[in-house]
Amino acid sequence: MLHVVVVTPIERTLEAFERAKQSEPDYPDAAVLATVGEDGRPSARIVLVRGADERGFTFYTNYRSRKGSELDDQRFAALCFYWKTLREQIRVEGTVSRVSAAESDAYFAARPRESQIGAHASSQSEHLANRGELERRVEELTAQFAGAPVPRPSHWGGYRLTPDRLEFWSEGAFRLHDRIVYDLEPSNGSWREQRLFP
Ligand SMILES: Cc1cc2nc3c(=O)[nH]c(=O)nc-3n(C[C@H](O)[C@H](O)[C@H](O)COP(=O)(O)O)c2cc1C
Repeated sequence: MLHVVVVTPIERTLEAFERAKQSEPDYPDAAVLATVGEDGRPSARIVLVRGADERGFTFYTNYRSRKGSELDDQRFAALCFYWKTLREQIRVEGTVSRVSAAESDAYFAARPRESQIGAHASSQSEHLANRGELERRVEELTAQFAGAPVPRPSHWGGYRLTPDRLEFWSEGAFRLHDRIVYDLEPSNGSWREQRLFP
C-alpha cells in the first residue's frame, strides 16, 4: 500500500546519520557513489558525504576525475550508505549537479592546508608514473603557496545529488529485513512510501 509521509526521508536519513556518528568507529559519512559512463558501464567508489539537507547530498571531488566527467555527462547517480554497527543501509538515487562556486570555496577554505595542496597536486584518475612524482608536486606547490592562502582549484568542487528515491533497509532476523522506499511525486513534491519484500 502507498501512502503520503509526514517525516521526510531526508529527515529520516539525518536521524540515521546521527546514530551512525555515535556508533561507527570511523567515516560515518562514507557512502558508495555509483556513476555510469556514456557506454552504460557503471563504476562505484567511496566518497565522504559532507552535507545532507532537503536539497540533497553533497560531496566533493575533482571535476576532471572519472566520476567527475561521468557526473557531468549523465544526470543520474546513486549513493549507498552502509553502517555495519547499525546493520542499516540507505540507498539514494537521483539527479546530480555541481554546487555553486561559493559553496565549494567555503568548504575548500575549511579543509586542512595539506589537503588543499593535495587537491592541486592530484590529477585524480589520471596516470601517475610513480609516487615520487606526486610527492615532488606537493613539495613544489607547498613552496609556491608559502605564506599565502591556497586558492581552490577551479577543477575541484562539490556535487549535490538531489534524490527522487530513497530506500531504508534494516536487518531482520533470518533475512526477513525491513525495506521502506520513498518515491518523490514530481507533481507536488510529496514522498510516497511503500514497503518492499526483502
Ligand atoms: C573512506 C574513503 C573516503 C573517500 N572520500 C573521497 C571523497 O570525498 N572524494 C573523492 O574524490 N574521493 C574520495 N575517496 C577516493 C575515491 O573512492 C576514489 O578512489 C577517487 O575519488 C577516484 O575515483 P574515480 O577515478 O572514479 O573518479 C575516498 C576513498 C575512501 C576509501
